[in-house]
Amino acid sequence: SWKKCNHVVCSPDAIRVWKVRITRIASGLQRKTPMNLPQHVRLVEVGPRDGLQNEKQPIEVADKVRLVDDLSAAGLGYIEVGSFVSPKWVPQMAGSAEVFAQIQRKAGVTYAALTPNLKGFEGALEAGVREVAVFAAATDAFSQKNINCSIKESLERFVPVMDAAKANDIRVRGYVSCVLGCPYDGAIDPKQVASVAAELFAMGCYEVSLGDTIGTGTPGATRQLIETVAAQIPREKLAGHFHDTYGQALANIYASLLEGVSVFDSSVAGLGGCPYAKGASGNVASEDVLYMLNGLGIQTGIDLDQLIAAGQRICALLGRSNGSRVARARLGS
Ligand code: HMG
Ligand code: MG
Repeated sequence: SWKKCNHVVCSPDAIRVWKVRITRIASGLQRKTPMNLPQHVRLVEVGPRDGLQNEKQPIEVADKVRLVDDLSAAGLGYIEVGSFVSPKWVPQMAGSAEVFAQIQRKAGVTYAALTPNLKGFEGALEAGVREVAVFAAATDAFSQKNINCSIKESLERFVPVMDAAKANDIRVRGYVSCVLGCPYDGAIDPKQVASVAAELFAMGCYEVSLGDTIGTGTPGATRQLIETVAAQIPREKLAGHFHDTYGQALANIYASLLEGVSVFDSSVAGLGGCPYAKGASGNVASEDVLYMLNGLGIQTGIDLDQLIAAGQRICALLGRSNGSRVARARLGS
């Protein structure tokens, strides 16, 4: 059999065949190994919005301002500060204009707000907001519960927002909720997500954040989702927004990195949930994402110790335990 083996290895035809095979294997590996991960990742800190929107107890404007300023001091380059939504629907976000008025704006940091309609956009504009996000869903059921209209109606509402944003030179980010599961409709076809995401992108959203609102996604489903959405939108225009209800968020982020996604939403101390998705936990903790990215040698410009301190301060204020495992390990609590 050695002879046979030598014969096979030495034959010029066999060498050609093996060269082709090895090249294919190597390119497959390249796509799937950490060597090919993005060098830089942008973290979108959603704690002051997605995190605090779910808190029942009143939080002083000054405390929200302190949180935002702590986060910018830690090196976060993008902070979602609040929402211009109905105070009857989400009372905690009612003071967003005051928060925007009092934060210390640091050069190079984007301070963004959620705006579900033109009224919200006008409120944001008046408050000096220079970047907003519109939010749609992958299912009509969630859309109705969250913003009281169907997906189609929501997209129609976004058109005047996009027009006003363009006229005022304001960038608009888009969200799709329930991309890996819906609390009302269950499993979601990735094509459904791709079609809503493509509509948001076509109407002018510079980036579309894919929200695993209830945190049921797994790495395999995440890769499948990104592959499907990336057939319609370049993957560098996609972001991942993973809630950690089932403890899959970090694994899903890693799966997304392998798919070439390099923007992730996260929440300091894992604050939050979604008021219209019962049982949904907070977003993946920013500290935990940062620790993983640091370990992978991926640059973010964020200081882990300062971030942990920011998370610890807001948790103490809210009287809740810190949802970041990294913070808990570092603080020995
Ligand atoms: P509606 O009741 O259908 O609105 O709510 P309407 O146009 O019929 O107006 C009713 C009242 O709301 C009127 O006031 C309006 O002026 C007022 P009234 O005459 O009764 O006194 N109103 C507003 N007030 C302030 N700001 C506004 C605004 N618009 C109308 N922008 C609406 C529709 C969208 C307003 C409502 O459903 C709402 O505010 N929903 C909040 C949804 C929300 O904030 N959800 C959480 C954020 S999304 C999320 O967390 C998911 C995400 O993280 C990604 C993920 O995890 O998947 C982004
Ligand atoms: Mg969310």
